[in-house]
Amino acid sequence: MTNMTIGIEKLSFYVPKHYISLTTMAEHHGIDPAKFSRGIGQDKIAMPSHDEDVVTLAAEAAQPIIDAVGSDDIDTLIFATETGIDHSKAAGIYVHRLLGMNPRCRVVEMKQACYSATAALQMAAGYVARKPSAKVLIIAADVSRYDLDSSGEATQGCGAVAMLVSNDAKILSLDTVSGLFTEDIMDFWRPNYRKTPLVDGKYSALRYLNALAESWTDYQQQGGRDFTSIDRFCYHLPFSRLGVKAHSHLAKLNGAKLDNVQITDGMAYNRVVGNCYTASLYLSLISTLENADQDLTGQAVGLFSYGSGAVAEFFSGVVQEGYQDHLMTTHHQKLLDDRAALSYDAYLNLWHAPDPQNGEAYAPEPAARGRYRLVSIDEHKRHYDTA
Ligand code: CAA
Repeated sequence: MTNMTIGIEKLSFYVPKHYISLTTMAEHHGIDPAKFSRGIGQDKIAMPSHDEDVVTLAAEAAQPIIDAVGSDDIDTLIFATETGIDHSKAAGIYVHRLLGMNPRCRVVEMKQACYSATAALQMAAGYVARKPSAKVLIIAADVSRYDLDSSGEATQGCGAVAMLVSNDAKILSLDTVSGLFTEDIMDFWRPNYRKTPLVDGKYSALRYLNALAESWTDYQQQGGRDFTSIDRFCYHLPFSRLGVKAHSHLAKLNGAKLDNVQITDGMAYNRVVGNCYTASLYLSLISTLENADQDLTGQAVGLFSYGSGAVAEFFSGVVQEGYQDHLMTTHHQKLLDDRAALSYDAYLNLWHAPDPQNGEAYAPEPAARGRYRLVSIDEHKRHYDTA
């Protein structure tokens, strides 16, 4: 091992082939497309086909990491999601099999709205500190879906981010300091019997900004970096305009000059993927690293994680020398470029994904562009395989 630094060694994401343009959605609803492109700062919504779900998205995101490092040293797989497919079995167990991972591995699923991947990251870093030879695979995967014709509809999306955490942080080392904030509120939640969340949209955005201030204040009290010594900021991005508001809020709180260059690269991918809940912050991190036109080596990145309900954390890390050699920029840009736009009717068809509840046999048409797909559901069991 050359580098004894705890943090992110590899970073990969996956997004499915289909999207609906928010221009198409605006036309359908008869509203000005600028409301979406400028008002909420989003351009496209990634949509899974009927044979894709968080398991297939997660397996696709993690595959390039397993191809690169194998699975012998990975003894922990943490699957972070709020789009679970089973109340009992962890979705990561299906992924573990699909990726042919070492059976000598613990697998667990974590949930706290859009926050859980951050809890996974902190726990992985703590575990690696205790056992430096271990590597932890974290996969954040979600499908964000709101009621049709609701104000949240334009903020849907889906995707998965896989991160390898180890004592050989080739991309981003993690500072040990972090700022924490929890409050029991009902801003966005999804009871077990519902497919779509209940959300108090405007209230949720206000609580997000309050949680940013609270977690930032705690980060400062714990000895975190000054605002002026952080070069780039990544925010949880349900829609990119909230990140713009968040950055302005934080600059004002610190009496600092606002510089949107610190956040713009980190929004490029999120604008064309949509909300992917707990994966969104880490998609923004990838977007920052892959879209910056300058070398970010040695620069400090501040990250704000928010999960409704609500838990927030502000933390930071440092971009490592040689990080570009470990990014998957070409692969990711190809995934985003090689996609197909949906008509509004085709979007509606995907939105209404069949959801057999009584054990009846169901086999979706093959449509996934990736290697993995949901082949069938029967007798209450989901079957996944390679395409
Ligand atoms: N051109 C430019 N801008 C326009 C416009 C036009 N023609 N028409 C409207 N706008 C602007 C509005 O002025 C407004 O800007 P400000 O925010 O600066 O006031 C913006 O577009 C949004 O318009 P509305 O205020 O009318 O709001 P909306 O009905 O579109 O709803 C929302 C916005 C409440 C956020 C809704 O999208 C929503 O409920 N989303 C889901 C919940 C969510 O994402 N919450 C975020 C915090 S919770 C969280 O972070 C967890 C998570 O992932 C869900």
